[in-house]
Amino acid sequence: ITSRTKAIIPVHLYGQPADMARILRVARRHNLYVIEDAAQAHGARYQGRRVGSLGDVACFSFYPSKNLGAYGDGGAVVTNDEGIARRVRMLGEHGSERKYVHLFLGTTSRLDALQAAVLRVKLRHLDRWNEHRRRIARLYRQQLAELDGLRLPEEAEGRYHVYHLYVIRTTKRDALKDYLGARGIGTGLHYPIPLHRQPFLASLKIEEGRFPVSEKLAREVLSLPIYPEMREEAVREVAEAIKGFKEWS
Ligand SMILES: Cc1ncc(COP(=O)(O)O)c(C=O)c1O
Repeated sequence: ITSRTKAIIPVHLYGQPADMARILRVARRHNLYVIEDAAQAHGARYQGRRVGSLGDVACFSFYPSKNLGAYGDGGAVVTNDEGIARRVRMLGEHGSERKYVHLFLGTTSRLDALQAAVLRVKLRHLDRWNEHRRRIARLYRQQLAELDGLRLPEEAEGRYHVYHLYVIRTTKRDALKDYLGARGIGTGLHYPIPLHRQPFLASLKIEEGRFPVSEKLAREVLSLPIYPEMREEAVREVAEAIKGFKEWS
C-alpha cells in the first residue's frame, strides 16, 4: 500500500469467499475502496452474507461457464453507492447519461436484454445448482482424502464455497493431467501463467523467481471436472482414475 493505492480487489477465487474481515480492516485503516471480484462466486457466502454485498463495489461475470452464466457474454457491477452506480452506468453507455451528450470517454457495455432474460430465469436455480456443486466437492474429498501427494480444496471457516472450480494441487500435475486426458477425462489449469509472467507485462521486466508462491501454484494446480449436472458415477469414475495413477506410490 502506497500513497497512490486507491482500492483493494479481493478475488473470491474458485468460488471461495476471500478473507473479507481482514481485508476490510486494512482498507478502512488506509481509507481504500474494496472492489470484490465475484466473477467465480455467485451465491457464495461469507459469515452468512452473500459475496457482492461485502465491499464498496462488486463485479460479477456471466460468462457462459460461470455458476450463473448467460448464453453469451455479460456481467454486472453492484454497489450501494449512488455516485458509483451512476458513474458505472455512464461508463457502459459511452460516458453519457443523456442521449448524445458525452461527459467522459466510456465504452459499450450494456447487458443485452436477451442475456438478461436468460439470467433472470437461471437465477432462480442458482442456489440449488451451487448445492449440487458442493455435493460433488464433498464426494471428491471423500474419495481422494487418503492420497498422499495430493492437496484438496478446503472450505475455510465461516465460508459457503460454491466450487466454481475444484482445484487440486500436486507436484506431479503435468503427468496426472496427461494420464487423465488419455482416459478421456478433461481437466483445466487455473491458471498456467502467473500475472507477473504474462507477456503483456513483459515491459515491467519482473524476472522468474520474484513471486515463487504464484509460480509454484501455476505449476501444481489442476482443475477437475465439476458442474451441477455431473452425476455421482462420473465423479467416482474421475476419482478412481486418479487413484489408479501409478506415480502416487
Ligand atoms: C476471477 C475472474 N475475474 C474476472 C473475470 C472476467 O470476467 P469477464 O470475462 O466476464 O469479463 C473472470 C472470468 O473470466 C474471472 O474468473
